[in-house]
Amino acid sequence: MNEISQLPYGGAGDGQAGKLELAERFRRHAGALARSGRSPLYVRMMRDAAGDIDRGGTVARLFDGVPAPPGSVPQLRLMAALHYLVLSGQAPALAAFYPSAGGERPVDGVWPLVEVVIDEHFDQIRARLHRTVQTNEPGRSAVLFAGLLWLTDRHRRPIRLLEVGASAGLNLLADRYSYVIGGRELGDPASPLRFVDPWTPPPAIDVEDAAARLEIVARAGCDPAPLDPSWPDDQLTLLSYIWPDELHRIERMRAALSVAARDPIPVAAQRGSIWLPDVLRAARGSELTVVWHSVMRQYVDPDEWAAIERTLSDAAGSSPIARLSMEPASDRHAAMQLTVHDPAGAPATRLAVCDDHGLPIRWAT
Ligand SMILES: C[S@@+](CC[C@H](N)C(=O)[O-])C[C@H]1O[C@@H](n2cnc3c(N)ncnc32)[C@H](O)[C@@H]1O
Repeated sequence: MNEISQLPYGGAGDGQAGKLELAERFRRHAGALARSGRSPLYVRMMRDAAGDIDRGGTVARLFDGVPAPPGSVPQLRLMAALHYLVLSGQAPALAAFYPSAGGERPVDGVWPLVEVVIDEHFDQIRARLHRTVQTNEPGRSAVLFAGLLWLTDRHRRPIRLLEVGASAGLNLLADRYSYVIGGRELGDPASPLRFVDPWTPPPAIDVEDAAARLEIVARAGCDPAPLDPSWPDDQLTLLSYIWPDELHRIERMRAALSVAARDPIPVAAQRGSIWLPDVLRAARGSELTVVWHSVMRQYVDPDEWAAIERTLSDAAGSSPIARLSMEPASDRHAAMQLTVHDPAGAPATRLAVCDDHGLPIRWAT
């Protein structure tokens, strides 16, 4: 395995929030965004929200009684609730600050407008704070697709693809997006979602050959709160989790939604610990069953996570089952890492490091 060099990215680390006060979690997240030069709008809003919580203001009242265990990222839940109001046309004055809604006003003046919107829509925002973060990020497909090619090169069997924490199922369509690698098109060349040279370096396999061999014969996912990519209100919810000043991600989401709306993938409304045992029992020896999960571990309580891990590691039997995981890196060198357990009960091997939303992706083997 090659040495993995450092990437200048890092998540806000809410999973390590421990007993930190709510205001401190907002400040830490704002600091992480500011250091990586991302979302000036959310840097401003999270800092002002932290000041409001210190004063026992309207944001403190919003969160009163709302559970916020470490990893549940309450700051993003508030940002998404406000973004949803903007995108659904319920907060036109605030929209003037949101590039996702065509807004161009400088971020410094945003907070008084946020306070007005919270006062006007207090109950609706509070209800949305109870929802888990649903960032179904198609940029992660560029990471997961490379993992599928790597497994295809290794096993040369048709793949049955299963995702735990699939949200709207956008990454279960990873092979329906286009990947331009050194000028060659992999995946679906007609796809409206294109990734150009997403891997540096690419996996050390013949990726063109693996892409030609890749055959996904079945795909399914589970999520306790699945979203329907063809339903307009769920589309707004999916968009609301994207930072409003990252227009390339908004475009990527719209492209993925157009693919998914044509051919939505079934996502069962179930937790992973309940769904996985039955679907794994249906694994067949002629296929490679690939179970993957991305950026969901921090949202799952420890008992549920232990049950999912136990099911996966017990699954190795007569049928080949591999596990791909894109979750926070175990060291400080990158925000996320892609690991493979092959077979599912084997120790993890790191395949790549990447950003929370996919690119850049540095392949490691
Ligand atoms: C941040 S989203 C990531 C969605 C998708 N995996 C992606 O990377 O685009 C985390 C998802 O995990 C789901 N989730 C939370 N607890 C879960 C559980 N016990 N079993 C399955 N999914 C769960 C949430 O509902 C949410 O859709």
